[in-house]
Amino acid sequence: MNIIWHAKTKQFHLYNDQISYIMYVQPNGELGQLYFGKRLHDTEDLIYLSDRIGLSLVTYYDMESQFSMELNRQEYPSFGSGDFSSPAFRILEEDGSSVTNLKHVGHEIYASKKALPGLPALYGTEEEITSLEIQLQDEKNGMHVFLTYSIFRDYPVIVRSTRFENRGKSELVLDRALSLCLDLPDAEYEWMQFSGAWARERRPITRKIDKGIVAIESKRGHSSPNQNPFVILKRANTDEFAGEAIGFSFVYSGNFLAQAECDTYGKLRFLMGIHPDTFSWSMKPGENFVTPEVVMARTTQGLNDLSQTYHSLYNNHLVRGKWKNQERPILLNNWEATYMDFTEESILKIAAKAKEAGAELFVLDDGWFGKRNDDHRALGDWVENPEKLPNGMKGLAEKVVAMGLKFGFWIEPEMVNPDSDLYRAHPEWAIAIPDRHKSLGRWQMVLDFSKEEVVDYIYGMLHRIIKDAPISYIKWDMNRTLTECFSQGLPAKEQGKVYHKHILGVYRLYERLEEAFPDILFESCSSGGGRFDAGMLYYAPQAWCSDNTDGEDRVMIQYGTTYGYPVSSIGAHVSAVPNHQTGRVVPITMRGHVAMFGAFGYELDLNRLTEDEFAMVQEQIRFVKEHRKLLQYGKFYRLRSPFEKNQAAWMVVSEDKSKAILAVYTMRATVNIIPGLLKLDGLDPDKKYGAGDKEYYGDVLMEAGIPLRDDCIPGYNMGHDGNSAILVLEECK
Ligand code: GLA
Repeated sequence: MNIIWHAKTKQFHLYNDQISYIMYVQPNGELGQLYFGKRLHDTEDLIYLSDRIGLSLVTYYDMESQFSMELNRQEYPSFGSGDFSSPAFRILEEDGSSVTNLKHVGHEIYASKKALPGLPALYGTEEEITSLEIQLQDEKNGMHVFLTYSIFRDYPVIVRSTRFENRGKSELVLDRALSLCLDLPDAEYEWMQFSGAWARERRPITRKIDKGIVAIESKRGHSSPNQNPFVILKRANTDEFAGEAIGFSFVYSGNFLAQAECDTYGKLRFLMGIHPDTFSWSMKPGENFVTPEVVMARTTQGLNDLSQTYHSLYNNHLVRGKWKNQERPILLNNWEATYMDFTEESILKIAAKAKEAGAELFVLDDGWFGKRNDDHRALGDWVENPEKLPNGMKGLAEKVVAMGLKFGFWIEPEMVNPDSDLYRAHPEWAIAIPDRHKSLGRWQMVLDFSKEEVVDYIYGMLHRIIKDAPISYIKWDMNRTLTECFSQGLPAKEQGKVYHKHILGVYRLYERLEEAFPDILFESCSSGGGRFDAGMLYYAPQAWCSDNTDGEDRVMIQYGTTYGYPVSSIGAHVSAVPNHQTGRVVPITMRGHVAMFGAFGYELDLNRLTEDEFAMVQEQIRFVKEHRKLLQYGKFYRLRSPFEKNQAAWMVVSEDKSKAILAVYTMRATVNIIPGLLKLDGLDPDKKYGAGDKEYYGDVLMEAGIPLRDDCIPGYNMGHDGNSAILVLEECK
């Protein structure tokens, strides 16, 4: 891995074994993009890859040399000097002008990678990462812009972010500051996004790119279940197993914009960053602003390979602390078992049965604090309700721990109900515009985490409970979007900062709690999977994937989630039937077979199961304990998409390819068909694998496939609805 600066030609080349990224300083001093793709030989002068051509009606920056901003691929473009596509940033000057010319003034190459102040960021050692910081400057307004690129030794990945420093003499307003721009020479890509809503998160949608703009965004204050801040550009013939694609993953949990724009000449501009519509950052002389980072990964071997890059990268270079690469505890959460209607006694009964089943952690969900007997009140009042917890959180936790289980509980720290002691004492702490209508979501408002004293106050309340009790886990929820966004008491020209500062406050609270309690496992949640993003993974290594726990819907939701996020991060529970969200009755086998590929657990009262079902649960837990490392950290392959058929299949393979687990699911059976063959992936073609009572060479399983029949995959009957099976493959010694 290396970063080379060719001083004579003013060209940068970043490369590792797999990729090259090349830029240069254009004749006007601004940075231009030359190449991003497969590793190239280092050549001093690749400037002929840019476009110098005389065309009618084009405005040239320099007529003589035919250098035009519009015709050349830019690295971090502004608007107003002849580039007419969407810009990467915009700076408003006091005189009302907003044209910026960022000229290269210098750069620095260093080993490893710097942390971003207050923001989540990937990390790695001096051997693993090399970074380049390019300094650009606008001579008139004094803004200095630092573009940062970090290239990983072992991954086809470049991580980018941008820092602005106002070194001028007057105040400047940054009203657009995206993290990344990538100009590509052609637009022959399809755009893949992961869209949905509450309880149907992250469905892959593929759109054609043509002249004009394709975009997704969130302006909801969180990354949202509606659009995920992860996008893939792929060639039309790219599938799971072969072909070229580039992924863009935003390490941020708030409002975002991701967009691809194909211009008149067929070039493509990809942009990603904080949503400019809800952002405006005034900067006094001396002040600076840092954008979150984008992780850009490339493959020539299909979407599974691209996903595997993100899985491994996030497990090794984003997730931190005690739970990094650790098997996740099998938990039982009481939410769907009791909702808010419980007593210490009823909770202990559920916990005891969970222990008997083999679970390792009990999680007390919503309803334990203030007057919280329904969702109309008490958020913000983080004090135990003595009627439900007469011995406090401490008392309950100690009893659960005495049973041999770990204990954790639910919080929603960013929220407040108007009907709460906190709101009555501090109405100005809620995000709202005084004298204007206040919208509610789930009867609640959002606390203004852009205010330090609010974060401090909530920290104090939570710290008191956690420090006194044996707490191993926290589920951190976030159940409404931001509206009427306004920070009460903040000067008018600072209001454009509130959305971003709110997220910084969320990160700060995470950071403080984790510093105080480094052993606690945090699981993030936002009405299920409404904040499933790379930013959150830095603080909470797993996320509740969806409030929809229906076994069949979960196949789709988890399948879609694996495009950008590792299996170990996907909170997945077996719940009761008829399912509380869909009313569907999916067999407990299938519910288990889906949840096993995730941070596994249960979300029901096991006391209510039949003896047979309970035995099945015990067996599921035994199986997960035996294979947990492989299930959560094996190389994950999507084999058959539930979005194309009423069936799905995926598998995990161990690092040395000696072991694999295949899972097949039929959501809805089709009568009178030949089951056919399913091609596996990731195995060693020369190894022989034992599976069920049969043995197969890896090449047979990958090139010909395994018959989707009961005699080869015991328990699988494609002719039945809600049928599923798991097959363990082990190298024959
Ligand atoms: C959200 C979460 C659920 C549960 C409830 C509690 O909906 O996604 O898992 O914690 O809140 O109110």
